[in-house]
Amino acid sequence: MREPRYKFKDVVLNDRLMTRFTDILRQQRRRDWLREHGKTPNRHLLFVGPPGSGKTMSAEAVAGELHLPLFIIRLEGLITRYMGETAAKLRLIFDETAKRRGIYLFDEFDAVGGQRTAVNDVAEMRRVLNSFLQFMEEGNSTDSVIICSTNHPSLLDRALLRRYDQVLEFDTPTSAQIKQLITANTAPMKIVAAKWTSIIHSAEGLSQSEIVRAADDAVKMAILDERKSVTTDDIVNRLQERHAMRTAFLDSESK
Ligand SMILES: Nc1ncnc2c1ncn2[C@@H]1O[C@H](COP(=O)(O)OP(=O)(O)O)[C@@H](O)[C@H]1O
Ligand SMILES: [Mg+2]
Repeated sequence: MREPRYKFKDVVLNDRLMTRFTDILRQQRRRDWLREHGKTPNRHLLFVGPPGSGKTMSAEAVAGELHLPLFIIRLEGLITRYMGETAAKLRLIFDETAKRRGIYLFDEFDAVGGQRTAVNDVAEMRRVLNSFLQFMEEGNSTDSVIICSTNHPSLLDRALLRRYDQVLEFDTPTSAQIKQLITANTAPMKIVAAKWTSIIHSAEGLSQSEIVRAADDAVKMAILDERKSVTTDDIVNRLQERHAMRTAFLDSESK
């Protein structure tokens, strides 16, 4: 469980996504009114998009906006070798969603739909997925919001995709978003004579998360140097460093 630290003002999203989140929040805030009219507020959401694009952060912002606790469930940690045990654990979680209103995030949900190498795993994953589908169908009277997030939508079952009220697609950042991310994450420090073209160029190919970290590192360095501002070079260097880390990671992975 996590007390939400974010609201949507902190999340850099395109207008299309923001409109959809606004709609989801509105349905949740006025759920009694919808119910009086025989309608159920949307509460099963699937977040799809590359790592570091703000899926977990957005789940936290939904919780923050609705003043609800956020529960993060890593399915990978739930899956055991013993038949039936995983489903029983899943049952406990879904029972909890009915008892305690909150935002329940099944993070990196693709583990369930994923291609596993071991045959036993495949069978167990199938079972987990089927239980999951069943649990999702039940309990339309609860007001908890269930969010699943995945980096690999192609691994997800069609049967599963149909269960969601909304599928929200996250994307790599646009130039305007890169600028927004860097401005927000260097504030209150100023960027002296910011050369946005070169900053944006250096940020291309990085995730929102990597860009935020690069901005944060540039600020830390300025603080340690006892400077009141950051420069274009500070930021560009930190962005390049993030690219290098990525390459190093890929190299060690392919060994
Ligand atoms: N769209 C975004 N707007 C602002 N910050 C972001 C965004 N996406 C990622 N971040 C930053 O990167 C961190 C990690 O992002 P996260 O939400 O965990 O990504 P994901 O769940 O998609 O892998 C966040 O805590 C935040 O600091
Ligand atoms: Mg995440």
